[in-house]
Amino acid sequence: MAIKTVIRQVKDHVGETVVIGSWINNKRSSGKIQFLQLRDGTGYIQGVVVKNEVSEETWNLAKSLTQESSVYVTGVIREEARSKSGFEMTVTGLELIQLTDNYPITPKEHGVDFLMDHRHLWLRSTKQRAIMVIRAEIIRAVQEFFDTNGFTLVDPPILTPTSAEGTTNLFHTKYFEEDAYLTQSGQLYMEAAAMALGKVYSFGPTFRAEKSKTRRHLIEFWMIEPEMAFTDHEESLRVQENFISHVVQSVLKNCRSELETLERDISKLENIQAPFPRITYDAAIEFLNKEGFDIPWGEDFGAPHETAIAEAYDKPVFITHYPASIKAFYMKPDPTRPEVVLCADMIAPEGYGEIIGGSQRIDDPELMEERFKEHELSPESYQWYLDLRKYGTVPHSGFGLGLERTVAWICGLDHVRETIPFPRTLYRLYP
Ligand code: 4AD
Ligand code: MG
Repeated sequence: MAIKTVIRQVKDHVGETVVIGSWINNKRSSGKIQFLQLRDGTGYIQGVVVKNEVSEETWNLAKSLTQESSVYVTGVIREEARSKSGFEMTVTGLELIQLTDNYPITPKEHGVDFLMDHRHLWLRSTKQRAIMVIRAEIIRAVQEFFDTNGFTLVDPPILTPTSAEGTTNLFHTKYFEEDAYLTQSGQLYMEAAAMALGKVYSFGPTFRAEKSKTRRHLIEFWMIEPEMAFTDHEESLRVQENFISHVVQSVLKNCRSELETLERDISKLENIQAPFPRITYDAAIEFLNKEGFDIPWGEDFGAPHETAIAEAYDKPVFITHYPASIKAFYMKPDPTRPEVVLCADMIAPEGYGEIIGGSQRIDDPELMEERFKEHELSPESYQWYLDLRKYGTVPHSGFGLGLERTVAWICGLDHVRETIPFPRTLYRLYP
């Protein structure tokens, strides 16, 4: 009896007869031999069908197989130095599940719209598989970092009565008779959780009805949001750089072949080790103006500004101390210079833009109430949040890492649409 296995495990079955449920990725033939390029989701292996060594039925079936036909393949695993995976299978039998006709995604080039319309099939391609494997490794490494550094995982709600990051890009829905919004960030709830559990992190989907069609924006994206009680801005930056170093080094260690598939320049990633450089907003404005940009103090950075700053470094760079006027209401002013806040954006190298936004939070109840007035936030809707400053307030800091931008950077992709299995982009909800 053949042992049922998967391609990832064939190394444990050299010399044995195994059966593997597979799809036909590709096929070549040279007269009396058919070379089946098999994939099963866990990996790739070549199945060799030799006319003289199999039944006529098996030979004819092998000949008829088309791209994406599904089949149980039985054969003997051999070590094969010439193959990329190091193994090959001598096929002894084939059991057809389905013969596929006219698979839409052929090895030729397709346009982006066509691929996006066929995302459910496009995911099967070698490159897309590699991206999904790296995405999963990033998530694993994120959780490993926080779980082993004293953080507790907490899940904030998705349906919320108020906004967390401004009201311009809120997704509105009804909650029975009330108005509700899909969460833009779990932060405010994570602040409550930090007061209950000390160091916490969340990992979940967030939604922003951004009308911007850029390489960096998704409508639905996943965020990792740590929040730390008794932690100042400086301590938070140290957590951030150690965290990102751990994630990048984990991908390098565990996803070599996927990075190779993506032809990622690994030397650029090997360099990502804490500490990371820092530049203040003031110094960044000065630098940009020297570089020929015409940007006054007080204006926010756009993608070209971030890219110009990032190009000066070969690691992620923190831009710190932005003007309070262009940042969120909850950020703590610098005590020595209240017009700027104790915040930082982490800008990824190679033009991938902001991957982390974070800050120390206002812990003073009076100042928080002032900010509520300035930002015209209704204290009634946020009563619970104000309570956090009323009952045992403490200095605390936190940040949010955008998963998809991180995947785009580590994989070296042009666009975030390939970093998530089913991207929600401007005006695209299908498939
Ligand atoms: O800078 P943002 O808006 O920060 C917050 O939401 C804070 N409440 C986080 C916190 O302190 N807990 O978003 C954080 C990160 C960005 O740096 C970016 O990586 C990502 O989320 N992000 C997006 N990614 C994809 N598409 C979008 N539309 C994104 N908007 C933000
Ligand atoms: Mg931001």
